[in-house]
Amino acid sequence: MVLPPQLQIPEPTPQGSLQILSLAEMGTAGGENHAQTLTLSLAIPTYNEGKNIKPLVERLVTLLDQVIAGDYELIIVDDDSPDLTWQTALALTTTYPQLRVLRRQQERGLSAAVIRGWQAATGRFLGVIDADLQHPPEVLLELLAALTQGADLAVASRHVTGGGVSEWSLIRRVLSRGAQTVGLLLLPRVVGRVSDPMSGYFMVQRRAIAGPILNPKGYKILLEVLGRGDIDTIAEVGYVFQERLEGASKVTWRQYIDYIHHLLRLRVGGRLSQLHQRFPLQRFVRFGLVGLSGVVVDMVILYLLHSTLGLPLTRSKILAAEVAILNNFIWNDAWTFADVSLMQQGWRARLKRLLKFNAICLGGLVLNVLMLNVIYNLVFGQRWAYAANLVAIAIVTFWNFWLNLKLSWRVTQTK
Ligand code: GDD
Ligand code: MN
Repeated sequence: MVLPPQLQIPEPTPQGSLQILSLAEMGTAGGENHAQTLTLSLAIPTYNEGKNIKPLVERLVTLLDQVIAGDYELIIVDDDSPDLTWQTALALTTTYPQLRVLRRQQERGLSAAVIRGWQAATGRFLGVIDADLQHPPEVLLELLAALTQGADLAVASRHVTGGGVSEWSLIRRVLSRGAQTVGLLLLPRVVGRVSDPMSGYFMVQRRAIAGPILNPKGYKILLEVLGRGDIDTIAEVGYVFQERLEGASKVTWRQYIDYIHHLLRLRVGGRLSQLHQRFPLQRFVRFGLVGLSGVVVDMVILYLLHSTLGLPLTRSKILAAEVAILNNFIWNDAWTFADVSLMQQGWRARLKRLLKFNAICLGGLVLNVLMLNVIYNLVFGQRWAYAANLVAIAIVTFWNFWLNLKLSWRVTQTK
């Protein structure tokens, strides 16, 4: 089908540094794109989504016309897809004038594509959604409501009440959680601010990310917004990540390498210093006291099993450690993180927390043994074994606390 002439060329794609203009700068920048400020600009990054674009645009328009008809735009940013997604999208612009299409031929990459879309945008709220309908469009209304109520950032999260993933393989779940754990260790005050830092589905106030030169890498555009934006209040909305019906995921190992690279880049150049993330001291003190009670339980059980019942030392220690972990879980769930546990009731949720707590504490046990050996042999010159153990325990307590705070008893600044 030959396209009418006015549809054959997409809009020119913004070039140069990845910087978002403020509304004021947009006004002075002038140009036909900046005639009117809209409420929402939704960037839709695409690569080989030719079969998904039409159903997605139809669902988005039906939905958004209910609440902000004529006051939003959908900006498809296609990286010159071999399946000509950009051309399929252009053909839709006659039916949907709120649809804009950018075709990038010199650049590639999901995060940068989103930012190019936001640079071409005229909305006060800048959003991003995947083109493959794995992000249910209906959640947009809740994200929109959160920003309208003043949140700086509204994230669709798989890891809060109402969230989840459909049939994700165990390996994909482990990889996603593993990536989150690495992020918590490398960039705790950025990655730790939301329950689903891997989310590619969110909306942010333009004023919160206008100004800094953005420098993303790979897939995780939310990291860039959290790491360089001026984000104070964050809202989270639960959503279930859907099964993809058409096309295939473009996630490869390269995205995981890019992710680590992106974390390190943000650690150096992000806005870490400005982030006012108060360390939850009171919770940490309670966690430490519970840990102390665990030491007592561990010692008593070890004595009963090894000295009284005559069980071999290693087996006694393993059983004693496990009983101590259970003891600590019960106290932490009922006291240290009571406010969070109360939001996640039910034996299934509690069992999930126990398993995560157990895994983190066992990881902590391994780390404890490693730290003990390093400190005893390399730092203390094979003297003061018990002092080395105390230092190792102190370090591991931070590890256990932080990971449990962020993974087992997720405390998010949900509005
Ligand atoms: N322009 C452009 N350039 N778009 C891309 C590129 C690219 O290089 N790579 C992927 N996309 C588009 C896809 O067409 C799709 O619309 C969206 O980005 C997500 O790509 P998928 O390959 O489907 O990613 P996923 O489903 O495995 O993971 C998505 O969801 C996760 C959970 O929200 C991504 O958004 C992840 O970043 C996110 O963590
Ligand atoms: Mn997808």
